[in-house]
Amino acid sequence: MSDLYSQAKNDRLGFWAEQARHLHWHKPFSQTLDFSKAPFASWFADGQINASYNCLDRHVLAGLGDRIALLFEGEPGDSKKYSYAELLNETKKAANALIALGVGEGDRVAIYSPLIPETIIAMLAVARIGAVHSVVFGGFSSEALKNRINDAGAKLVITADGGFRKGKAHELKVAVDEAMKDNSCPTVEKVLVIKRTNTPVVMSEHDLWWSDAISAASADHEAKGFDAEHPLFILYTSGTTGKPKGILHTTGGYLTGAAYTHKTVFDLHAEKDVYWCTADVGWITGHSYVVYGPLANGATQVIYEGTPDTPTFSRWWEIIEKYKVTIFYTAPTAIRTFMKVGKEVVARHDLSSLRILGSVGEPINPEAWHWYSKVIGGDHCEVVDTWWQTETGSIMISAIPGAFKSKPGAAQRALPGITVGIVDEAGNPVIPGSDEKASGYLTIDEPWPSMLRGVWGDPERFKETYWSKFPGKYFAGDGARYDEEGDIWILGRIDDVIKVSGHRLSTAEIESALVEHHWVAEAAVVGAKDEITEQAVVAFVILRQDEIADAPSETDIAKILKDWVVKKIGPIARPREIIVVAELPKTRSGKIMRRLLRDVAEGRPVGDVTTLADSTVMSAINAKLHEGVTD
Ligand code: WTA
Repeated sequence: MSDLYSQAKNDRLGFWAEQARHLHWHKPFSQTLDFSKAPFASWFADGQINASYNCLDRHVLAGLGDRIALLFEGEPGDSKKYSYAELLNETKKAANALIALGVGEGDRVAIYSPLIPETIIAMLAVARIGAVHSVVFGGFSSEALKNRINDAGAKLVITADGGFRKGKAHELKVAVDEAMKDNSCPTVEKVLVIKRTNTPVVMSEHDLWWSDAISAASADHEAKGFDAEHPLFILYTSGTTGKPKGILHTTGGYLTGAAYTHKTVFDLHAEKDVYWCTADVGWITGHSYVVYGPLANGATQVIYEGTPDTPTFSRWWEIIEKYKVTIFYTAPTAIRTFMKVGKEVVARHDLSSLRILGSVGEPINPEAWHWYSKVIGGDHCEVVDTWWQTETGSIMISAIPGAFKSKPGAAQRALPGITVGIVDEAGNPVIPGSDEKASGYLTIDEPWPSMLRGVWGDPERFKETYWSKFPGKYFAGDGARYDEEGDIWILGRIDDVIKVSGHRLSTAEIESALVEHHWVAEAAVVGAKDEITEQAVVAFVILRQDEIADAPSETDIAKILKDWVVKKIGPIARPREIIVVAELPKTRSGKIMRRLLRDVAEGRPVGDVTTLADSTVMSAINAKLHEGVTD
């Protein structure tokens, strides 16, 4: 592994070209990076490649068709295996079905379905024909889905009747119907419906069963190469403004990053490992480390539809035991949940097959790290804490098994080929070792293959959001510090993005949802520390007295507004608390001082209030809280 570090250091672009050449290119590239139009980068631009071919055909042609690609576990206990040959066969049929529906190169396809094999087949089929997928997590509401469909201008929606979650069938097609009501998604021509839960659905003229479309399709489909910079997918994520942004990833560079990091960080030996990443495909972790990374590397992996507590908290550990999982990748929230449940549940299972444990999505506190390593890993596993983002496409900072000792709580070092830095407010580099608390803003200092290529339909926003704070450098939105040994510790977001159970939400987005309710005059949302979910949504609202004439109690108001947020965004954004206040703390220039609200939400004494326009506001809020009227 140290070889990789020195190789990348000596010839960074040569190193990346070599990683890219591990993939199959329909037409080899000669040019590695063009950054002349910075911050817009092109990687491997004169090459042609097909992501689906790399994930499937290549392995089958190499004689690995019988290798298991997917070990699917449904929440109700059903299971199904797909070999690489079977997955390829299904994907070819799906590709033909999409073509028959008029989907072509560059067309956008929204996918809103559970973590079942068909969803992965759908993604690979879309990629295979050069269309662009936009997967929307099933936990988003119909309104959030509608906005995403319209922003991307999707021509087709692929959904399911429902998915199983927490022992119940969770409806999905109904949400699509709702989103499309009254012609509100004018670009959508057809909706393909996968049958999963057998929930009755209404099939209209534009709806078609997935199984009918597939069974009518031929299994012959030759994948052609697309330009390396051909769009592969859009994935919406929350930023600092109310409107989610469509992060755009292209084919050659993204696949290079996903495959290289998956192999390196998890020390993958595809011929013998059984890999399991618990993320949903609705998030970037599911894109890079359930679909593209593992399949490009020919891995055998488990996918599980449901939640870890259904039917009991033994579910995950039973799955690890059943399939002898060797590499396991999950989020700190899950680990903290199991810490609370207690180690006895885990101890009933034989987890000795595990070799590598990964963590992603939020900082892992040292207690959770130790518990993960000891209770899950039996003290014999390597633990890798992986830092990255939807925008980075693949892991940027992580330990590498065998390269150096991993350190509880630290993300540690940039991967070979990745150049990161920490700078102060003025953009000056913070020097490792210069001070015990050498902290600042985390930046990525040189372009990398899997970097986002833009924000869908908004090039200015791409420049402004990521490249304007520290010119020439990508600013990630996170704070970080070096320890004495030069290892990086992630301190969390410095902007208004919050992480709830590893899900990325924007406080501004929740605020705009709240003020859309006719009762709400003004809203301020903060992420308050939460023992299990890392952060929780706490909203402060000012009500419009004229609108709530026959006022329900504040408890009812809070409940109604929580449900409203669920309707507008989805259950993942449901506020833990809604606090009705008369005023919000503002500076003289009218900026809401969230720092003070966070103090209140986290039960701390309120900090410095001298810059407030009206310093009595905080005492009023505090007095209110002590009356106990917080829902
Ligand atoms: C946070 C998830 C600390 C960080 C892959 C980042 C982390 C945001 C870690 C991106 C980690 C992710 N340690 N914080 N190992 N991994 N984050 O786009 O704040 O959902 O900016 O991508 O998650 O979230 P996203």
